[in-house]
Amino acid sequence: MFSPSIPALSLIALFFLTTYKFIIYPAFLSPLSKIPNAHWSSPFSPFWILWIRYCSYENRSLHAAHLKCGSVIRLGPNDLSVSDVNGLRTVYSGGFEKGQWYSIFDNYGVPCMFSSWDSRTHSARKRMISNVYSKSVLSNSSALKRQAQVILHDRLLPVLRSASLSKTGRGIDIHDIWNATSMDFITAYQFGLSKGSNFLQNESERQHWLSLYHSRKTHTFFNQELPKLTRFLRYFHVNLVPPWVDDANKELEEWCQDRCSDTTKSMDGGSKDSDVGNKPVVMDAIISGISKEKTKGDDSVLSSTTLKHQELSVASEMIDHLAAGHETSGITLTYISWYLSRDPPLQDKLRKELLTLNPSIKLASQSSENKIPSSKDLDALPLLHAVVMETLRLRAAIPGGQPRMTPYPSCTLGPYTDIPGGVRVAAQAHTVHRNAEVYPDPERWDHKRWMDDENGYSEEQRKERDRWFWAFSSGGRMCIGSNFAMHEIKLVIAAVYSNFKTYIVDDEGIEQSDGYTCGPESNHLFLRIEKI
Ligand code: HEM
Ligand SMILES: *[C@@H]1O[C@H](CO)[C@@H](O)[C@H](O)[C@H]1NC(C)=O
Ligand SMILES: *[C@@H]1O[C@H](CO)[C@@H](O)[C@H](O)[C@H]1NC(C)=O
Ligand SMILES: *[C@@H]1O[C@H](CO)[C@@H](O)[C@H](O)[C@H]1NC(C)=O
Ligand SMILES: *[C@@H]1O[C@H](CO)[C@@H](O)[C@H](O)[C@H]1NC(C)=O
Repeated sequence: MFSPSIPALSLIALFFLTTYKFIIYPAFLSPLSKIPNAHWSSPFSPFWILWIRYCSYENRSLHAAHLKCGSVIRLGPNDLSVSDVNGLRTVYSGGFEKGQWYSIFDNYGVPCMFSSWDSRTHSARKRMISNVYSKSVLSNSSALKRQAQVILHDRLLPVLRSASLSKTGRGIDIHDIWNATSMDFITAYQFGLSKGSNFLQNESERQHWLSLYHSRKTHTFFNQELPKLTRFLRYFHVNLVPPWVDDANKELEEWCQDRCSDTTKSMDGGSKDSDVGNKPVVMDAIISGISKEKTKGDDSVLSSTTLKHQELSVASEMIDHLAAGHETSGITLTYISWYLSRDPPLQDKLRKELLTLNPSIKLASQSSENKIPSSKDLDALPLLHAVVMETLRLRAAIPGGQPRMTPYPSCTLGPYTDIPGGVRVAAQAHTVHRNAEVYPDPERWDHKRWMDDENGYSEEQRKERDRWFWAFSSGGRMCIGSNFAMHEIKLVIAAVYSNFKTYIVDDEGIEQSDGYTCGPESNHLFLRIEKI
């Protein structure tokens, strides 16, 4: 008679347990099993979504899956995606926390505000700096005004003027110029003009820096998506991330650290700088924020991180702002100037509007004429606003997913209840901004969507349009620099189109890449500039 041995019985038990745990439970019993699958393998294996991410096919794949399966979908066993404002409200306004995915933004090995996982340490860091990025402080800041004046009148406009005189047929790579402009803007506000970058005028330094920054970009996959495997293999000297990525990171970190220590030195020196543009607004805020936090001693939630490694933490925060601040704004400016270059009559209309500014940003013959319009006056220009908003909608600089973790013990997402804690869930602006009911014919760039005098929208349509706009994310982890970015972008576009016309010379590869922060595939846009 057949009598199974103990090992055979254990094998059979193991087989059933494994089948239960990895197939039956996730596909049929888990509360997640009620959520539509983006791919048939999604309940069992993360392979499909990892592959999609590895190949940079996420934006179109998830967008197509949402169109087919609805606004909450399952990408992998523990990986969800949401695509409507209800999902945004639950996840982002509901304070779902970040996770491991953001740890690659722990510069110098210490967390910054952006990379903080939990809301307690995040709030403590945010308290120190959010004020200097608020609309009321920005619009009243004499430091920012002076910085804008120098960057626009002494650096940008002369660069564009000399480009307009150039006889080469290739035009100017405007993406490079916008990178430099936004870098100069954000670092001036952080460190003051004299300690900030001067990429607009120093081409060699700018190109070196930007190419270092760029070289790291295609190598985030393994550290973000497979951090355990990456660390494990590294232990055996197998590097999934090439060593020069670490070298590039190190050089960028040193560059920022130098700026931080120079700035701190001049702050400690106590010498009053007579030029208000040299005020290091963000550095001031974070250093005094840390001093205040220190009075709490061991009770501070930051005692083992920010307070323990103060200098590195300041540098970690600063490099995050200049990274987050320059690339996103640079991309947005590039797409705005691309759309405008395709439409000369629209440029003329915009110029007419810009010349109503008082003061306007005209190339000045005398430096006393170098005035800068107020943010209030800039915000009052409907066409300028519409052009910026529509570009942020269709070409959001962060079109990719912003992952969060579901809270413990469980939560509800739309119609799906009992979703366990610790499950990754994200929305991507790429999909949110392409809802055809809110943005009809969503692939079309149409600035009139944002012009209330021209689009004939009802009150309800306007409300929906604004509710679905998500270029800066939402909730407690929303972009801290959104007001800064809007102001800077409007100033720059106003400066350019008050003085010049632009035409496309070469826009091959202008399609936006697929990933987290995404610029033109080619990384360039060549324009011809013509002085008016
Ligand atoms: C057009 C320009 C910009 C766009 C489209 C943009 C977009 C975003 C988005 C979508 C997020 C949320 C990301 C996530 O949670 O994964 C974010 C966060 C952030 N952004 Fe921006 N951003 C822009 C400009 C700036 C600027 C100029 C700064 C300068 C300080 C900045 C600093 C930050 C910081 C520090 C965070 C993290 C906030 C937190 O965790 O509380 N951004 N941004
Ligand atoms: C700017 O500052 C003035 C006084 O310094 C204040 O009255 C005003 O409310 C501030 N503006 C904004 C927009 O906060
Ligand atoms: C612009 O900046 C981004 C981010 O630093 C970088 O990846 C890209 O190479 C830069 N492009 C140009 C043309 O400078
Ligand atoms: C440009 O920056 C580099 C590196 O910081 C510096 O050595 C060089 O002197 C600068 N060039 C000009 C023209 O300012
Ligand atoms: C997303 O995918 C489409 C292809 O469907 C591509 O053309 C586009 O540039 C991609 N990136 C973004 C950010 O839209």
